[in-house]
Amino acid sequence: MSSTGLAAVAARAGQGTGTHAHQPGYGRTARAPPVPRKPSWGDVVNPTAMQCTFHFQEITHVNELTRHKTLTTATATAGVWDAFVIVIGMLKGGTGKTTSAWFIALYYAIVLGLPTLLLDADATSQSAYDWYKVAAAEGSEIPENLVIERYPFDDIAEYIRDKRTEFAAIVIDAGGGSAKLFHEAVTEANRLIVPVAPTKIERRKLVATFDEAERAAARNTRDITAHVVLVKADDRTSLPRTAKDKLLQPAQGEGIGPDRDEPFPLADTVIHAWVHYMEAFGEIPTELSEYTALMKELDAA
Ligand SMILES: Nc1ncnc2c1ncn2[C@@H]1O[C@H](COP(=O)(O)OP(=O)(O)OP(=O)(O)O)[C@@H](O)[C@H]1O
Ligand SMILES: [Mg+2]
Repeated sequence: MSSTGLAAVAARAGQGTGTHAHQPGYGRTARAPPVPRKPSWGDVVNPTAMQCTFHFQEITHVNELTRHKTLTTATATAGVWDAFVIVIGMLKGGTGKTTSAWFIALYYAIVLGLPTLLLDADATSQSAYDWYKVAAAEGSEIPENLVIERYPFDDIAEYIRDKRTEFAAIVIDAGGGSAKLFHEAVTEANRLIVPVAPTKIERRKLVATFDEAERAAARNTRDITAHVVLVKADDRTSLPRTAKDKLLQPAQGEGIGPDRDEPFPLADTVIHAWVHYMEAFGEIPTELSEYTALMKELDAA
């Protein structure tokens, strides 16, 4: 199995990220950003950023080099974060992007205790931000180190670059309606997570999503890994098993890579079809076990 075009981008590191003036009134800050905490040795310094892997879980031998480089950078730029940017995207509606984005942001904020930005970049529905508004209106306790903003604009890459130094983690709900916005977000991402339910119609959209991701990754100057995550899995049915088989052994034309026959980079961890997730909108759930397992798996890859 060879890596796809996303892999080629990994080597092209070190190009300037360029800072850009913030456009007033665009980013709607839900909470004041936390003051960046000065990282020190023995501290948890953006642990995820130390564990960048190359594309499609391959070329893992570079991990040690990457980790070392990141540690050096963290020391050299003490006091200023260089956020680990995670894009949650899939070019289809209703797959579980917003739910995944919230649970992953809560993982970074609550489990890891890191300054985290959840960016609602969905140009169509803004439900991640609505989730926050409902939670706030109902008096739910929102972690102090979690900031929720909306930024459903095509120049999202520029906005991410502006925010990188303020947060350890930036989680972006890229929505499903705008390939342009998805593309722009992926150009700045360290990790792409594509949630997909175990149905045929969702799998079909994966090919288009990865095509777009590949084009975006070609413009990304950082290391980026992409992962498909099976969500809404009901183990009482044959659907999750079938979906896994189809994703890992795709028929010609239904996979990734130059010949569209390579397996998707599917995470082992599965997010199940739980009422807990269906009822989570507008809540600040603290039961984060499945998403915690997922993030730990991806960090260890
Ligand atoms: N693991 C899960 N188990 C069961 N239901 C889920 C799960 N994850 C999400 N859902 C439900 O699936 C529906 C779509 O989820 P969500 O809004 O997160 O998807 P989305 O991809 O953000 O949709 P949109 O493209 O419309 O923004 C919601 O009703 C949500 O509660
Ligand atoms: Mg959504």
